Amino acid sequence: MEKSNGLRVVLFPLPLQGCINPMIQLAKILHSRGFSITVIHTRFNAPKASNHPLFTFIQIPDGLSETETQTHNTKLLLTLLNRNCESPVRDCLTTLLQSADSETEEDKQRISCLIDDSGWIFTQPLAQSLNLPRFVLNTFKVSFFRNHFVLPQLRREMYLLSQDSEQEDLVEEFPPLRKKDLLRILGVETELLDQYLAMMLETTKASSGLIFMSCEELEQDSLRQAREDFKVPIFTIGPSHIHFPASSSSLLSPDETSISWLDKQEDKSVIYVSFGSIVTISESDLMEIAWGLRNSNQPFLWVVRVGLVAHGTEPIEAIPEELIERLNEKGKIVKWAPQQEVLKHRAIGGFLTHNGWNSTVESICEGVPMICLPFRWDQLLNARFVSEVWMVGIHLEGRIERNEIERAIRRLFLETEGEAIRERMKLLKDKVGMSVKQNGSAYRSLEHLIDYISSF
Ligand code: UDX
Repeated sequence: MEKSNGLRVVLFPLPLQGCINPMIQLAKILHSRGFSITVIHTRFNAPKASNHPLFTFIQIPDGLSETETQTHNTKLLLTLLNRNCESPVRDCLTTLLQSADSETEEDKQRISCLIDDSGWIFTQPLAQSLNLPRFVLNTFKVSFFRNHFVLPQLRREMYLLSQDSEQEDLVEEFPPLRKKDLLRILGVETELLDQYLAMMLETTKASSGLIFMSCEELEQDSLRQAREDFKVPIFTIGPSHIHFPASSSSLLSPDETSISWLDKQEDKSVIYVSFGSIVTISESDLMEIAWGLRNSNQPFLWVVRVGLVAHGTEPIEAIPEELIERLNEKGKIVKWAPQQEVLKHRAIGGFLTHNGWNSTVESICEGVPMICLPFRWDQLLNARFVSEVWMVGIHLEGRIERNEIERAIRRLFLETEGEAIRERMKLLKDKVGMSVKQNGSAYRSLEHLIDYISSF
């Protein structure tokens, strides 16, 4: 670590795995550049403080009941958290600022800024009232974040009434999303979301800057447009895990036997299957995936996390013993994997993914082609970029059927189409890899961010 620069940054992640990982990675980057780090976090999904002995962790009460912590409804969870956390965060920040002021000259550390998630909608006015600059860390792709504010308008324009024949059409206001993707995004959302989005837009525009785990090479035109829309500095600092490879911010313990099992497999022979930390599927989907994997005859490493099947705590118990035996002949099932290490492994040849932004970027960084099975929200856009813009993956188009899954795996691993995808993925990996190297676009953006934060 560089010598302390006398500045402290306070970070406040949303308590979701896909948000905690990039925030802790950013904390590590800033710490390595001389900043002291304080992480405010909820009791629910608290990060493991013992994994980061050089950071200060402060837990605040989140007011969630045991039942509320079990909900699969992310929007409800975010609403409750925003309602319950405002007052404790206010108290916490006030105390931190007061104690920073009262430190002796020798120990004095100025709190330069707050960095939190775009999903916290009370923090901007709060930071403003305390005279504290606030930066917004965003865990989506820039093009999704920028365009998703148009969703309420699209709902009003009755996109839901689109004809069947128009389903494949592109949504002009939200490229390269197709109308059928938009229906899936809008279908499950309600007007409550519109108010939430309006607040998010307002608080983002009032912030001191926006930080994305992306880079110019993955964002094409969207960055220029986002700069026009938000009118605050935008930093695309690149895939954060590249700086600190081993993820210590996992809320679940990764099954390390995944790696010893991969060591026994041939190069580029294994399909890795994981749908991140939030997605839930039905029991019949679970069975279709199981059969699809088995019938493909390709070795597989499959993450079946507790809670993957809604209303069942141990989804694996839903799979009949006889099928488990057949699955074990060819593959390995784990409850949580060390994903970044897995994707790096020479044995991995493909990733059947839900296309969360972290998973998508991690896959690109390791040059692993994807089979796209997006379920919700930004995943649908990320999957279009993977399959149709960068053309580094095959889209399952939502068909969770054993034959479709088997067919997609064969196309990727055994057919010339797969070879072409692999070639394109190698080029994309190299481009993104270059962006974090000295003088690359993400490298420059990170330097700019550090200078900017230091100036407060
Ligand atoms: C959520 C949203 O669902 C996603 O759409 C959004 O882009 C980010 O926030 P999540 O669904 O958890 O995230 O997916 P993803 O963004 O891919 O993040 C999952 C993280 O968990 C990744 O960093 C991945 O490496 C890690 N992971 C996943 C593991 O470490 N082990 C696993 O077994 C599975």
